[in-house]
Amino acid sequence: MKSIHSTSVEQTQAIGERLGRALFPGAFVALIGDLGAGKTAFSQGIARGLGIRGRVPSPTFVLVQVHEGGRLPLWHADFYRLGDESELETLGFDERGDAVLVAEWADRFVVASDRLEVRITEVGEGRRIEAQGYGAAHDQLEVCFAD
Ligand SMILES: Nc1ncnc2c1ncn2[C@@H]1O[C@H](COP(=O)(O)OP(=O)(O)OP(=O)(O)O)[C@@H](O)[C@H]1O
Ligand SMILES: [Mg+2]
Repeated sequence: MKSIHSTSVEQTQAIGERLGRALFPGAFVALIGDLGAGKTAFSQGIARGLGIRGRVPSPTFVLVQVHEGGRLPLWHADFYRLGDESELETLGFDERGDAVLVAEWADRFVVASDRLEVRITEVGEGRRIEAQGYGAAHDQLEVCFAD
């Protein structure tokens, strides 16, 4: 487990960007944190790190938004309004190929055991961002969260 402190939305995006540059084909980033913690901000950084241009809005209402044009495609998902496991299956995450999956509210449903869990917690005015890799490949991504 690695932990880093962020004092601004820009810094949270910059940490996401560093992770985005390190992500490998098929990686899964499970984002966990309360409403307004900064999961979408962090996802915007990941997109930038993957070389994706353009807006990365919150996917709350569409459940999953696909962003092309980067080093790897990005599937940006939000489980906040996801009903149940059967609805999850219709999203087809297992068939994403090389695309990176980044899911907000990932503690609501289990997608895969191999993942990088990123937990964002409000601490005063800032945020604590903790990363825990599960599986050998995702383990390596923890280095992005060193000061
Ligand atoms: N250090 C910080 N890192 C990230 N966001 C911050 C930070 N400090 C303040 N903020 C503010 O917190 C909010 C984070 O919003 P964001 O949409 O990224 O959260 P979220 O976790 O995706 O919320 P939701 O659960 O609604 O999807 C923004 O308004 C942002 O400006
Ligand atoms: Mg969000």
